[in-house]
Amino acid sequence: MADLSTNYMGISLTNPIIAGASSLSLKADNLKKLEEAGASAIVFKSLFEEQIQLENYEMNRIIEGFNERNAEMLSIFPHMPDSGPQQHLIALEKAVKSVSIPIFASLNAVNPETWIEWSYQLAQIGVAGLELNFYYLPKFDHVTEVEFLEQMVQTITKIKSRVNIPIAIKLSPYYFNLLGILKSLEEAGADGFVLFNRFFQPDIDIQDEKHTTPFNLSHSGDYRLALRYTGLIYGRTKAGICASQGIYKGEEIIKLILAGADCVQVVSALYKKGIDHISTMISEIEQWMESKNYSTISEFKGKLAEKNTKNPFIYRRAQYIDFLMKAHSLTWEEYPTI
Ligand SMILES: Cc1cc2nc3c(=O)[nH]c(=O)nc-3n(C[C@H](O)[C@H](O)[C@H](O)COP(=O)(O)O)c2cc1C
Repeated sequence: MADLSTNYMGISLTNPIIAGASSLSLKADNLKKLEEAGASAIVFKSLFEEQIQLENYEMNRIIEGFNERNAEMLSIFPHMPDSGPQQHLIALEKAVKSVSIPIFASLNAVNPETWIEWSYQLAQIGVAGLELNFYYLPKFDHVTEVEFLEQMVQTITKIKSRVNIPIAIKLSPYYFNLLGILKSLEEAGADGFVLFNRFFQPDIDIQDEKHTTPFNLSHSGDYRLALRYTGLIYGRTKAGICASQGIYKGEEIIKLILAGADCVQVVSALYKKGIDHISTMISEIEQWMESKNYSTISEFKGKLAEKNTKNPFIYRRAQYIDFLMKAHSLTWEEYPTI
């Protein structure tokens, strides 16, 4: 029987499939189902800056209201909306206690103070690690990527000085030199990288002439962006590599491990195919490993990373080189339509 166990940021996982952050984790039933289907860990739904700010705003507003009436009433904790950060901590703690697999907390903040304070708060709940979902809103301003990076580095350094569990950075692929960014973040203390986050993109309904925000599930094949960067960084970083985005099949997970991933995260596949689909993907990996006589993941992890391949172009300028090579052998009619 193949051994699918793997290690991500020093955390032992029974297999490489983690259920990524999504609203699925908000239902207690789903946490149990994910564990039963074989998920080796679960990333709990993120706590967002907006939830924290809204509560601060609400808290101030309510307290001011009480102030005007009677100072003694300040000792009575005013009613807060159900989606505030305190409720998040309670739900997260329940989730940690309800399953025996590792749970990661996830934070999606904006202000450095929020990142530092709430990373600390989340790390107190018994989670195996933190996933920090860094994202900066583009600004029409003279702000450079260097300044963004500097702030990120300072924030991570401060978080690392306050928490003693591993932290993974969930990144956007939209940076100028992602590999340089990864290097700086690792030096700042990042223990792992989740490649990549997928952003909700707005759309427009042309009949109603209104904006819409469709449910943003990925598509089969989208895993190749993660595959490229996984292959590029394997062997060049000590940080854990968790591939994410567009992963639907055991076959794709095998490819990502061959490129160098320690583990993967799945979300859209669970929405589209159901939570049980995790067990199908696990069987697919097992069957392939048995057919190849691999007994452990480490026997093939990173085998096809850039570092271990003789083809210097495959992860870099492959599309251009491939196109140039084909250009010599193809006739005009055979050219792929662009
Ligand atoms: C309904 C839904 C909710 C999500 N919520 C979060 C979240 O709270 N935090 C987060 O970092 N990512 C969130 N994501 C993004 C996923 O974790 C994941 O990065 C993305 O969907 C790409 O993976 P996939 O192709 O397997 O779906 C969410 C995605 C979906 C579809």
